[in-house]
Amino acid sequence: MAEQVTTTGGQVIGYRRENCDPPYLHPDYAATRTRAPKRPLILLPHTLSEVTGPVFGHEEIGPLDHDLTRGHEGEPLGERIVLHGSVLDGDGRPVRNTLVELWQANAAGRYRHVVDRHPAPLDPNFTGAGRCLTDDEGRYRFITVKPGAYPWRNHDNAWRAAHIHLSLFGPAFATRLVTQMYFPGDPLFFQDPIFNAVRDPRDRELLIARFDLAGTVPEWALAYRFDIVLRGRDATPAEE
Ligand SMILES: [Fe+2]
Repeated sequence: MAEQVTTTGGQVIGYRRENCDPPYLHPDYAATRTRAPKRPLILLPHTLSEVTGPVFGHEEIGPLDHDLTRGHEGEPLGERIVLHGSVLDGDGRPVRNTLVELWQANAAGRYRHVVDRHPAPLDPNFTGAGRCLTDDEGRYRFITVKPGAYPWRNHDNAWRAAHIHLSLFGPAFATRLVTQMYFPGDPLFFQDPIFNAVRDPRDRELLIARFDLAGTVPEWALAYRFDIVLRGRDATPAEE
């Protein structure tokens, strides 16, 4: 992620660029073998359109956009969960009013997407996408169902650990963060090269939500907490 930006006298001062982890090339993740740049990157100066960003107002977010279990005729199948946390900058300050978007497979491990060929059922009551704005304390909260693991063709008998995709808009396009959140104790971690593309085990821990008894809703839903840190030593690893 990047350092705070300023513009002075019409001159654009770009964001600091940090080392990329996970790296562009992680051979166990087969798609990176063809996708990763083969030559050193040429870094262009940031432009004004990168160091400014979209401004979101509460009126643009629907009252149910954070609740993936509603908006259809019935409720989706699966284990209902609350997913919540804080978005913080590198100094631990809350990042207010930032757009958090989420997308995920359904409880059977199937995306509502044309290229998803996993022979698991679609759920007519689950689309798998939601969004919300952080509040004044930088907090976000979603209601959804726990996604299932799904197979992919990266290697023989490959399965993705259950995960939820998240996107955040920081104060600028150059600070957008896209990441994946995992669930504690998943038995598939050891063979998921996307999870393991984050090289430092301590950083991988930052991608795992923690079960949050205090956040549960009795007789209704379990809860997981996932704090997202935009910069610094505890920064949440992001996809570049
Ligand atoms: Fe996924």
